[in-house]
Amino acid sequence: MDTSSLQNLATAIKKSSRIVSLTGAGISVASGIPDFRSEGGLWTRYDPSLYASYSKFVEDPSYFWEMHIETMRLIDRARPNPAHRALADLEELGLLKGVITQNIDGLHQDAGTSTVYELHGTNKTSSCIICRRQYPTKEIADHIFSFQKEDLIRKMRRGNEIPACDCGGWIKPDVILFGEKMSHEVAVAAQELASSCDLLLVVGTSLQVQPAASLPFATKHNGGAIAFINREPTFLNRIADHVFLGKAEEILPELVNMLNAAT
Ligand code: APR
Repeated sequence: MDTSSLQNLATAIKKSSRIVSLTGAGISVASGIPDFRSEGGLWTRYDPSLYASYSKFVEDPSYFWEMHIETMRLIDRARPNPAHRALADLEELGLLKGVITQNIDGLHQDAGTSTVYELHGTNKTSSCIICRRQYPTKEIADHIFSFQKEDLIRKMRRGNEIPACDCGGWIKPDVILFGEKMSHEVAVAAQELASSCDLLLVVGTSLQVQPAASLPFATKHNGGAIAFINREPTFLNRIADHVFLGKAEEILPELVNMLNAAT
């Protein structure tokens, strides 16, 4: 790890007054949840147009559940890793105003971060797509996990055992699928945070989807700086002020150690 560059970032952080972090699936890989587009990632095994599309879910939820059962098991077992905890430490030190995340796993909150904007929703709760009644996803998961997966999917393909509301509507975890409207309030808050911060710490994302991919430009446009911590390069490498190619769970704790040593 390039210690002098990390020291430069620590110095920039100490001079900043409104730091915000934007995270993606890469920050949770060390917690056992694969990302989407790396080798072995979710989209390399499930076609999102079939398994993660809202219109397909409404037509036949069995494909979504076939993929999401695996995701729910991984989230159930996942605990925050040193990268999540480092961001919570930055908030605790009064250096971080909030986290904008594309992740649905709730690990930032579990690590202790109090201000989290979930652009793509959350797996913690589920809602009826008709009457909007909300259910704890754990209740749905407990029922689903009581079946052998292949047997359950066979039943679901025939329209049986699909989680449904008393009103008859399908119940879906509150995760935003492709083609599904995201929360306007969250999108506005995220845009406002990214536009008004003086340093955006982007961690573990390929920046392939909107509105996340546009947020770094909102920061830059308003005179803020960008730090990018990611295992692989993306377009952001060309406009970021600080770039670290590597593992978030190694780089972020080292950064916090430098900041603690300096106080
Ligand atoms: N440390 C840092 N970066 C990592 C690590 C790690 N330990 N592991 C993986 N990465 C990087 C990968 O190199 C990749 O660039 O994290 C990035 C993850 O990119 P994606 O898999 O595309 O995930 P993400 O950017 O979060 O996707 C955004 O796309 O399909 C939608 O809803 C889905 O929320 C998701 C969104």
